[in-house]
Amino acid sequence: YKRVTVKSLIEMKANGEKISMLTSYDYTMAKIVDSAGTDVILVGDSASNVMAGHETTLPITLDQMIYHASSVVRAAKRALVVVDLPFGSYQSDPKEALRSSIKIMKQSGGHAVKLEGGKEIKESIKRILNAGIPVMGHLGLTPQSIYKFGTYSVRAKEEEEAKKLKEDALMLEKLGCFAIVLEKVPAKLAKEVADSVTIPVIGIGAGNGVDGQVLVLHDMLGMTHEFNPRFLRRYMNLYDEMTKAISLYCDDVKSVDFPNEKEQY
Ligand code: KIV
Ligand code: NA
Repeated sequence: YKRVTVKSLIEMKANGEKISMLTSYDYTMAKIVDSAGTDVILVGDSASNVMAGHETTLPITLDQMIYHASSVVRAAKRALVVVDLPFGSYQSDPKEALRSSIKIMKQSGGHAVKLEGGKEIKESIKRILNAGIPVMGHLGLTPQSIYKFGTYSVRAKEEEEAKKLKEDALMLEKLGCFAIVLEKVPAKLAKEVADSVTIPVIGIGAGNGVDGQVLVLHDMLGMTHEFNPRFLRRYMNLYDEMTKAISLYCDDVKSVDFPNEKEQY
């Protein structure tokens, strides 16, 4: 396999080739996601919701992110693996941000880190980049700030927030970030942002005028039921498929249909 790199992603944008990105948190799923041809695997702090059942992304720790990321790295032969810096591991100061990033790179083997925010975390991003660690930005709806926003609704509908978002995107490019995730903003604004920078803008709920798309794997496979945003396309209904399979198994155990003659020693 020819490994996807931060350089090849920037070339893909230049060539007009869209970038596919999905989350993974474990070895078995990441192996499928990688071999199916996904360009970027994000070890998202959405693991806090999807894997651990928390209501927000805030509780997940750096060590828990590293456990997920190291499992994903062992599976990914082609995809670039990006790891979220979790809440509380980079907001205090640039030194803490660098320390957390180094820990992720050394202990998980991931290829890049992602941080939420714009000019508030400028110095931290600079410091991480100076250490040779590729950084992906994340603007728009940034779930680690949910208690500031109060809701998970669309961001940057008003001119003031849209203006700051555009400035932040330009700043992230200038600092040397290799890509930006843009979450839940109007499609028109997202396209303007994507057109204003040479680094790829990867959207989630940001329309099709951007350079790539990302979804949470368990959502697009239909394993989750509660989460129903407009931007989510479900490619399977795995929740129902799995429920059927598991209840068949339970029935077979009860009726002593499983195991049969051939399934025993
Ligand atoms: O944690 C995550 O899954 C993310 C994506 C939704 C972009 O940050
Ligand atoms: Na995230």
